[in-house]
Order: sequence, then C-alpha cells, then structure tokens
Amino acid sequence: MSCHDRILLDDWHVVADMEQLRQSRVLSATLFEAALTVSLGEDDNVSVKRDRDGQDLTCQLKYGFVWVCPGTPTRDILHIPEAFEEDRYVVSGGSFPVRTSGLRVVENFLDMGHFPFVHTGWLGEEPFTEVQPYEVELTDDDEIIATECYFHQPIASPTAEGGIEVEYTYRVYRPYIVSLYKTNPHFDDRKDYIVLFIQPVGPERCVVHNMLCYLKEGMNMPDLRWFMQLIFAQDKPILENQIPRRLPLDPRAETPIRADKVAILYRRWLREHQVNYGAIPAV
Ligand SMILES: [Fe+2]
Repeated sequence: MSCHDRILLDDWHVVADMEQLRQSRVLSATLFEAALTVSLGEDDNVSVKRDRDGQDLTCQLKYGFVWVCPGTPTRDILHIPEAFEEDRYVVSGGSFPVRTSGLRVVENFLDMGHFPFVHTGWLGEEPFTEVQPYEVELTDDDEIIATECYFHQPIASPTAEGGIEVEYTYRVYRPYIVSLYKTNPHFDDRKDYIVLFIQPVGPERCVVHNMLCYLKEGMNMPDLRWFMQLIFAQDKPILENQIPRRLPLDPRAETPIRADKVAILYRRWLREHQVNYGAIPAV
C-alpha cells in the first residue's frame, strides 16, 4: 500500500455498506490503492482479502458497514451513542464515489460558507451569506469541535416548513471521519446527527459513506435518504472541480478569514499527526 501514515494504517476504515454486500454477497473495494475483495459467507461472516497476495485483513462490522484495519489497530472504531437511541432513524444515506482527496471532503463538510452558493434554496440563500463567529477547540480526546455555528436555512431538513436559524456543532474524530449535530425542529435539547466515514481509495479518490441518526418525530426514512442524496449531489461537482485535489497543508496556503477557523485547525492537526495521504505536505 502506498500509504505510509501510521495513524491511518493503524486505524479503521469503511470499505463496504452491509446493505449492498447482502445483495451481491461479494464486492470489490479499494483502500489506499490496494484492491480488496469483501465477501459475505454462508454463515453471514464477512471476510476481506487483499487481492495482490490473498492476505486476510482485520475486519469488523459496525453501524451497518464493513470496517478494515490494514495495519495493527491501536484504537477501536469510534463510539457513536446516537446510533443506539431507539427514537432515531439510523440509516445510511448512500456511498458516493468522489474524485478528490477525502481530506477535501472533510474540509468542505466543515465549511458553512458554501451553503448559500452550493445548496441555494436549501441550506442557504442570499442575502444570508455571512458566516457568524463561532468557537473551535481541540479537546482532551484530540478531536476538533466547532460550536455555536449559526446559519439561516430556507429548507434545513426534508420536513422543514419555512426558513429557520439552525445551530450546528461540528466534530472531527479522525483524519477521515467528520460529523455534525444540527438543530431539530421538534426538540430544543436534542440534535440530528450526520457522520461521514470517508474511505481513502487513493490520494485523490475516495468513497464517502455516511450514517444519518435523525430523530423519528415528524420524519420518515425515504425523505431522509432522499435529502442526503440531493445535498451530496450538489457538493460532488464542487468537490471534483477543486484544484489541487490533494489538501495543501502548508500554512501559507491558508486564507486566514474567520469562516476558515475550523479548517485552519484541521490542517494544523493533520500536520501535527503527520497525515500526508491525500495531502500536499508542508515543506
Ligand atoms: Fe455542502
């Protein structure tokens, strides 16, 4: 494998959606440019083999996905309490191949500034284009959290009736895993949750798997999936047209404007963890 970043090799990555695997029983996948075969056996056991040498890779099932660790796991797959709450729909909104670095996908996901221009009429609209100041910090668990992110959204969810001021919290758990918590129209004290598990196919290619944990109240599953697919279809061409495809980590490549506060911390955090796969390393 051409990835040399220990932090990535010794971590878990999604390589397949169980729903798809149940249909076809065998799937081809690529992780860090290595071709893999994911198989569902007679007894519902999942195995993942590397095509080049037939080696079995360490794998686990969690959240309806097949996860692989190509190295030696130093930590477990992340724990997401929302996925176990019974009053939520917990579903995949789809797995989307994208021709860019997964790090670019994370950064785009963290950026509220694109809402009015890319998700016009849905997650944003003119003249509400300004990103208000928000808080961002690195936690004791070495995660990036951005809070107090407010944005006016015309259609914030599949069942929205009119525009609302939405509050987001963003969370970067691992280099290729990012989530958000978003205002729910029916509850003041709980939020809807979306997480992206990004599969690094190559340094400039990825598959974006996602899991939605939405409160069931006033929501239905088909609309939820449809909404996620609509929003992601708007992001995909923007992501694929970004040049360079790899995320530049040189601090001089950054534009220090307020909306980029979380992106600046993300890039610094990647540098400190020596994540180079999918990046243009700082010199
Ligand atoms: Fe977007």
